[in-house]
Amino acid sequence: MNREPFYITTPIYYVNDVPHIGHAYTTIAADVSARFHRMMGQPVLFATGTDEHGQKIQQAAESRGLTAQQLADQTVENFKKLWEVLGISNDDFIRTTEERHFKVVTAVFEKLLAQGDVYKGTYEGWYCVPCETYVPEAQMGEGKTCPDCKRPLEKMTEESYFFRMSRYQEPLLRFYEENPDAILPRTRYNEIVSFIRSGLKDQSISRTTLKWGIPVPGDDRHVIYVWFDALINYLTVCGYPDEEAKWKQYWPYVRHLVGKDIIRFHCVVWPAMLLALGVNPPRQVFSHGWWTVEGEKMSKSRGNVVDPFEMVNLYGKDAFRYFLLREVPFGLDGDFSESALVKRINSDLANDLGNLLNRTLQMIERFKGCTVTACGPVDPLDLEMARLASSTFETVRARMSEFAFDEALKAIWSFISRMNKYIDETAPWKLGKENDPRLDSVLGTLYQALIQIALMVAPFMPETACRMWNQLGLAGDPANALFEDYPWGFLPEGTTIRRDEVLFPRIDLKAWEEARAEREAKRNLLPDPGEHEAEVGVEEFRKIELRTARVLSVEPVPNASKLYKLNLDLGYERRTIVSGIREFYEPAELVGRDIIVICNLKPAKLRGVVSNGMLLAAESPDGKELALLTLDRPITPGSRIH
Ligand code: MSP
Repeated sequence: MNREPFYITTPIYYVNDVPHIGHAYTTIAADVSARFHRMMGQPVLFATGTDEHGQKIQQAAESRGLTAQQLADQTVENFKKLWEVLGISNDDFIRTTEERHFKVVTAVFEKLLAQGDVYKGTYEGWYCVPCETYVPEAQMGEGKTCPDCKRPLEKMTEESYFFRMSRYQEPLLRFYEENPDAILPRTRYNEIVSFIRSGLKDQSISRTTLKWGIPVPGDDRHVIYVWFDALINYLTVCGYPDEEAKWKQYWPYVRHLVGKDIIRFHCVVWPAMLLALGVNPPRQVFSHGWWTVEGEKMSKSRGNVVDPFEMVNLYGKDAFRYFLLREVPFGLDGDFSESALVKRINSDLANDLGNLLNRTLQMIERFKGCTVTACGPVDPLDLEMARLASSTFETVRARMSEFAFDEALKAIWSFISRMNKYIDETAPWKLGKENDPRLDSVLGTLYQALIQIALMVAPFMPETACRMWNQLGLAGDPANALFEDYPWGFLPEGTTIRRDEVLFPRIDLKAWEEARAEREAKRNLLPDPGEHEAEVGVEEFRKIELRTARVLSVEPVPNASKLYKLNLDLGYERRTIVSGIREFYEPAELVGRDIIVICNLKPAKLRGVVSNGMLLAAESPDGKELALLTLDRPITPGSRIH
């Protein structure tokens, strides 16, 4: 048995978004690999986590009125929850805002700076001031404009720290020449090698335009660029540089699974950083493809983002895990559709796997009173099945070492089909009725085959494997077993089987389609926006004088449970307005806020108090929620709103 350690990583995910099928895909793939290698008896380190620094996160937090740390603390929970729901068995979960990571990034930066692989220089580029971002020339709009906000870009020169990547062009090429399987699939290897050959430039690795990041040691006007920080997570997890035992055990065997969009970071920048540190580049980077959804690119604006929580809810975690890895070869792009998932559940899971288990158990129940009995003299056909089981396992092992999950599953399923056919060929129900002694070897062969299948399926569908195991009458969980402990021939005589609910009930297509249409209809049902007003010209709109005002004090209006009297500062004057927001805000939440008021509204007397204007707020269609319009940054009170 090969006991080589196995260190597997997923990318660490940005916390500005909710987890979707793309995140689930890599993490499931890594989980299946980790589980498989654990069952092979190898020491495994499996890590995932979150990428929490950088502009994206800072902006997303600002737009939600949160600090970046608050946003990260909230969204990280969605990822953790999803991994639990999907049965992910990670050994570590790293957040880049953790102290342990901060220390490693700082140490790496200092080391590279001291040896001259990091230097201070100036960065020149086209900058969009409102978006606070540099725009690469290739992405600039017509007339040097920002591709996002369309405003003109400015040429900016900024002080920046650089990583001397150019120095590592030749060493990297040599490394890839000597390690042709360091990047899989092969097409990606070729792409990367030719990219490196075309010349490597030094990389800017610090920013002065934002604060949310790890400060450059000794120069905290700069924060370290988020990718430089993020890649180092793989070192932090592995105990670099202080946990020597862990580091030595796992680093030589590290394998990164990443989407095809981020392979340059993983196959060029990252190994160059490692070479500079005097550390071996990753043993392997596997670049997987992207999912489209029903033939279209997945995007929030299209509203077709696949929510893994919903899929698990509808179809179960194992079916979802199985489908993602079976449907598409791991290196290629694929298309996700629920109908394809349902088809696989009905054919592969219910029909092939579920039936094999059920038919076998039914016969043990009927003819052996639920007891597993000795095999008796075997037939050449039984021996053929035994040989097929072990060659199937060999194929699975080989395919798993190349991350060819679909091929591994195909091999298991062709064995399952062969066993179903074996039942048809041997017709055990006839043997049973005729009291034929051959029945023992047929049932024994089937029982042994099911043990092998449960074990091979366990990394992919841990829950299903465990249910199979229990129905076969075995204790424990195959997910914690070692393959080597259950060779063909393992037949625990006297065991009582426990046939239970079928593994995967067939999904009735007609009912499924109806339920799906209903779901879609609900999803498309937008809240009723209420009545619309007649069209107005801009001249009419301009007649309404909107200004900002700062709330000075707030007091309840006596005998009016819904009203507050607000004292406002408009810069050029003070004034009082009465507003019906008492149910929704405490006075303390209002004082000091900048709000928006209509100031040329005719004065009105409300419960004896004169109100000189009206504040603006949004109200939900059912009137149960209310939110005040405020400003996203302070401004001189009384400013006009256009
Ligand atoms: N934070 C970086 C990674 C840093 S690793 C040191 C990042 N995060 S991400 O959250 O944007 O994306 C993570 C992964 O999701 C990437 O590997 C990306 O390829 C993958 N996917 C995003 N959309 C996807 C699909 N539609 N299909 C498959 N994978 C997709 O990048």
